[in-house]
Amino acid sequence: MTRRRCTLALALTLGLGCGGEEGPKGSVGGDSADGGAVDSGGEGGQDTGPCAEVPLVNWDTFGAGFMLHHCQGCHASTTPDRYGAPPEVTFDSKEQTWAWRDRILERSAVDPPTMPPAGGTSADDRVRLRWWLECAPEGT
Ligand code: HEC
Repeated sequence: MTRRRCTLALALTLGLGCGGEEGPKGSVGGDSADGGAVDSGGEGGQDTGPCAEVPLVNWDTFGAGFMLHHCQGCHASTTPDRYGAPPEVTFDSKEQTWAWRDRILERSAVDPPTMPPAGGTSADDRVRLRWWLECAPEGT
């Protein structure tokens, strides 16, 4: 298991406070000294930001299965026919997937999505995709 890191710059970029990953995100103030969290500088911190109340969704709990089921048919390094998917756009690992984070969000987390080309993802899955790539600690 990789240890979750908390990068302050990243946390601020995402509108998150540090230290929020371990406990329930909805927990209300009072214990923000935990881990030396500094969440007063951003806009609202973990109690009010867009990621404040979302469940922790990551590669292990959602991403791997989602990518395998909906994307790897064309994007896996081992797929026999990529149907034109570029060779460099491969999602075999969470590292490769995170490297394409922005494009994945733009292609697959919008309505209607343009990836997969023929659609097929549920609205729930697209919400989870956002929870994962926008709210989970980067690289997880
Ligand atoms: C039926 C095959 C197929 C499936 C399934 C598929 N893709 Fe693609 N993908 C392509 C093709 C073909 C291209 C190149 C043409 C294009 O960009 O539309 C591509 C390109 C991409 C690109 C690079 C282009 C860009 O916009 O930056 C990304 C990112 C991407 N796909 C993400 C995904 C994700 C995420 C999924 C699953 C939710 C997925 N794809 C499922 C065929 C597929």
